[in-house]
Amino acid sequence: MHQVQTILEAKNYIVSKTNANPMIGLVLGSGLGSLADDIENPVTIPYSDIPHFAKSGAVGHANEMVIGELKGKTVVAMKGRFHYYEGFSLDEVTFPVRVLKALGVETLILTNACGAVNTSFQPGDLMLITDHINLVGTNPLTGPNNSELGTRFPDSSQIYNLELRNLALETAKEQNMTLQQGVYAWWSGPAYETPAEIRMIRTLGADAVGMSTVPEAMVAIHSSMKVLGISCLTNMASGILDQPLSHNEVIDVAGRVRSKFIELVKGVLEKI
Ligand code: HPA
Repeated sequence: MHQVQTILEAKNYIVSKTNANPMIGLVLGSGLGSLADDIENPVTIPYSDIPHFAKSGAVGHANEMVIGELKGKTVVAMKGRFHYYEGFSLDEVTFPVRVLKALGVETLILTNACGAVNTSFQPGDLMLITDHINLVGTNPLTGPNNSELGTRFPDSSQIYNLELRNLALETAKEQNMTLQQGVYAWWSGPAYETPAEIRMIRTLGADAVGMSTVPEAMVAIHSSMKVLGISCLTNMASGILDQPLSHNEVIDVAGRVRSKFIELVKGVLEKI
């Protein structure tokens, strides 16, 4: 359970570095961090300087917060996140979301790289997350509830905000971009799934599978934030093609899709 005191200490440190008041938060997944390079008047804060942030070492993540303006909106971007598979507790994984909320963020845009389970999708497609399935068997809200932070039993019937989804769909249409839609299944990792697990995940109703996003989305909902989730489908999930999965491929494809992804997010920011 997150303590209000630690959240405020982290918030106060960030506030001491910038006068900006971000209303929109961006969590940038594998290979997608360069969106933060376009932020104007940036103030960059390494996670390692922020009180109570965990220490991350994930490959392909810069691990810093960038606060500034993007498309006329004051944003706070997280270049890199904490993953459950790294051994962090779900409290550590989701602590930054609490801090973003304390900073005044009302809209959280979560991004990730993930595998395509739906065989009509292609590597390099972007997917709007419509809903999720938690396959990990644990939940970041487990434990005593702090009612200062949110309600005991949060409604999860619309975690990924419909208005924001519609803005993303409109933006994709204007940009002539294919934007798939689907359900994201959260897999703990760090091993990629087996082909049998992918068949199970498809049977359960998911279109994509990845190792992040869901815990942050749950804490964001608990914090009464509006959530938008966008996935970069970097590969067909295990067993769909006759080839092994590799992290290099994930980073490679995320890199190739980067400019398309950045345009989509910027287009959405303009409309928010
Ligand atoms: N499975 C899980 N996580 C992933 C994948 C995948 O196929 N690709 C990128 N992240």
